[in-house]
Amino acid sequence: MHNHLEIVLTRDGSQTILDNTRETTYHSINGAVTESRHVFIEAGFKYLAAQGKSRLKILEIGFGTGLNAFLTYLETQKYHLDVEYLGIEANPLPDTMIEQLVYSEYLQAASTQNVFRHLHAASGLTEAHFSLKVLNDNVEDLTLPSGNDLIYYDAFGPRDQSELWTLELLSRIVGTMTPGGVLVTYCAQGQFKRNLKQLGCDVESLPGPPGKREMVRATLRKPNDA
Ligand SMILES: C[S@@+](CC[C@H](N)C(=O)[O-])C[C@H]1O[C@@H](n2cnc3c(N)ncnc32)[C@H](O)[C@@H]1O
Repeated sequence: MHNHLEIVLTRDGSQTILDNTRETTYHSINGAVTESRHVFIEAGFKYLAAQGKSRLKILEIGFGTGLNAFLTYLETQKYHLDVEYLGIEANPLPDTMIEQLVYSEYLQAASTQNVFRHLHAASGLTEAHFSLKVLNDNVEDLTLPSGNDLIYYDAFGPRDQSELWTLELLSRIVGTMTPGGVLVTYCAQGQFKRNLKQLGCDVESLPGPPGKREMVRATLRKPNDA
């Protein structure tokens, strides 16, 4: 059932998954960990953490390997804040593949391999300052919980999966965000940015990770903002 998926190395030496049916990878071939850190951790998590928040509720669309969640977990060990993380993943990876993903070694955090494995456990993960659940369903079919401070939008791109980039779905996702909440994604498509603006977000085009000119950070305006 999953034999169209294989683990490949990206240019920074970290692993990603190649989906041979879609002919696309789960992360940039220019560096999986480099991209995840740049887009989700630096532009999203650290950006909000620097605002002095004590608690962050994070929603990830397209949980995949769990790399974004794992990097977020490692960051929460350095910051004094609590994270409640919900991942959405329509096609969870098989256990045999998860076992072969060695991000903890790559990140020189081998003692946390157990945490990485638990990110994928049906029961989720409850650690000090970090709790995680993953829902295995199509994001389009779910009622999404509200109160999200940070959205990691990491679906396949609009060319591969246009149904995940519609105004209608985006409207539901932005509708779950807290005022001042942030959505980050590697995608910088013009229509997507216009949709975010239409939904009441301030949209920043930031320098992208290696191989990509731009990425997007959208901040939901607070009611009193001009
Ligand atoms: C770009 S990859 C995500 C990479 C992931 N964040 C990671 O770090 O490995 C896109 C992910 O979205 C998932 N996906 C595809 N269609 C989906 C849907 N309708 N709802 C939720 N997830 C979906 C894919 O199975 C894949 O894992």
